Amino acid sequence: MLAVTALLVLPLPLPASAQSVPDPERGRALYENHCQVCHTPRVHSRINKLPISRAELQEIVDRWQREEQLRWSAQDVADVVEFLGRTRYGYASQ
Ligand code: HEC
Repeated sequence: MLAVTALLVLPLPLPASAQSVPDPERGRALYENHCQVCHTPRVHSRINKLPISRAELQEIVDRWQREEQLRWSAQDVADVVEFLGRTRYGYASQ
């Protein structure tokens, strides 16, 4: 069981079919509750605009939720990536 749990928190690039469509509103709630405490909106608007891909964003979000020991599911991570992608990084919906 422990091994299964450990697997779930790995930054897996999940096939889209394995989960439902990311919900940015749920992502917003998760983000506002757990992440915004130390973020100003500017944390997501890099001055030198380094390219950040969706995969990279997913990796950072996953790293943060593990750092904060939130035990988010892949769906939680996908929702927050969808929210940040749309509202902060200008990605179109998947
Ligand atoms: C303890 C304070 C803190 C918490 C809590 C926190 N962050 Fe951060 N975050 C930062 C700081 C500081 C930076 C900028 C420096 C860096 O990239 O390490 C950052 C950077 C980021 C970036 C990269 C921004 C960019 O475009 O370069 C993302 C994405 C991010 N955080 C997502 C999250 C998510 C998702 C959560 C909640 C699970 C979270 N963070 C929780 C402090 C925090």
